[in-house]
Amino acid sequence: MKSEISMAVIRRLPRYYRYLGELLDEGVAKISSKELSNLMKVTASQIRQDLNNFGGFGQQGYGYNVEYLYLEIGKILGLNKINNMILIGAGNLGQALANYPAFRKRGFNLIGIFDKNPKIIGLQIGGLEVLDVDKLEQFIKQNEVDIAILTIPKNGTLEIATLLTNWGIKGLWNFSPTDLFIPNVQIENVNLSQSLMTLAYQIHNKNSSNS
Ligand code: NAI
Repeated sequence: MKSEISMAVIRRLPRYYRYLGELLDEGVAKISSKELSNLMKVTASQIRQDLNNFGGFGQQGYGYNVEYLYLEIGKILGLNKINNMILIGAGNLGQALANYPAFRKRGFNLIGIFDKNPKIIGLQIGGLEVLDVDKLEQFIKQNEVDIAILTIPKNGTLEIATLLTNWGIKGLWNFSPTDLFIPNVQIENVNLSQSLMTLAYQIHNKNSSNS
């Protein structure tokens, strides 16, 4: 594998993974880049270029072996390992994420939920008891935690994120409405409003392209 793969390619891999997973479920054993291209609405040359970053996986005249490609992309994305997660902020969004079963299916294992509100601490959400955020450091020391999901308001997010980083968390999935930039930790800042604003642009600018 090349050492430096652009983030643009990495960001496209989960989509390949999802489509290939669906093909596997349908019992499809092999697929050409042309067929995958029609399905995913990206060019066949883009698919070939993207997958060439990892040695190609395809065979001339045969196409791609769906299961092999699915498993290899899974390995590249780190989905062949269990990723233990904790969630901080068990409000509307936090509860919705904690109750969503599909993450576990992909090996993202929620093992702890934390909040600071005494009315929420002690509730059972997604099969876990919500713990007091004061217990966070102890919990992280006693359990192997890879990712922290932040579903708390903007206020206090940087402080918690910095503490989590100092305690050895490797990744922050940040839904709090403030973009985080902290060294020594991987961060995905997620913002649904941005996606909605893009949609607003598209419906109000009829000439805009969909890609
Ligand atoms: P909410 O008010 O229902 O839940 C927030 C929870 O965080 C509460 O239970 C509160 O007690 C807890 N909390 C606050 N500070 C805390 C701290 N320091 N430690 C531990 N727990 C703490 O709010 P909701 O609707 O769940 O939204 C959460 C945040 O996510 C909001 O800031 C909202 O703006 C944002 N949001 C972001 C979206 C995105 O696309 N990034 C989409 C929707 C909401």
